[in-house]
Amino acid sequence: MDCSHIQFCLEQSKINLEQLQKLLEIGAFWAKNRTIEGLSIAIANSNPVVTVWDRNLLIGFARATSDGIYRAAIWDVVIHPDYRGNGLGLKLVETVLAHPQVNKVERVYLTTTNQRSFYERIGFERNNTNTMVLYNNTCIENIYQHQTSEVF
Ligand SMILES: CC(C)(COP(=O)(O)OP(=O)(O)OC[C@H]1O[C@@H](n2cnc3c(N)ncnc32)[C@H](O)[C@@H]1OP(=O)(O)O)[C@@H](O)C(=O)NCCC(=O)NCCS
Repeated sequence: MDCSHIQFCLEQSKINLEQLQKLLEIGAFWAKNRTIEGLSIAIANSNPVVTVWDRNLLIGFARATSDGIYRAAIWDVVIHPDYRGNGLGLKLVETVLAHPQVNKVERVYLTTTNQRSFYERIGFERNNTNTMVLYNNTCIENIYQHQTSEVF
């Protein structure tokens, strides 16, 4: 596939949330039920947010949260299935890592189920997982979904 016309964008205002919702449904098993409202909040509180475009079609997405010096985390890395295997995922993660909000941070974390080898190629290392998680049932996304199901 000729990807020379594919563009990477850092401008949050250009993101089409409906397209993003569809991309996550198609390509990201952990993010299939996200609402437009929830995505809008997640984007507003992330920096950088990187999108990948084939003209007007959103074909890739990744975002990070960071304190700017000690810790950052990368979330929701996805390339549309039709565009995978062309180096776009690599460039997407490299664009996040090169951003000033991430590139001087001491440790950059991410969680992945199936893509460890992909991230190892970029320089990530497997760690002994000391990770813990709190499943918050009062998360605003759950509240939005509840409200939506009540309205319709
Ligand atoms: C992971 C993902 C973003 C990779 O995107 P991509 O555009 O296909 O990746 P690239 O073409 O840039 O691949 C870069 C390199 O990694 C390799 N690679 C890609 N996926 C790989 C995998 N699952 N395992 C091992 N290597 C992989 C490629 O062969 C390529 O190697 P090369 O540089 O030697 O040619 C994409 O497969 C995807 O969206 N997957 C579904 C969502 C997902 O699982 N995201 C990660 C969640 S944390």
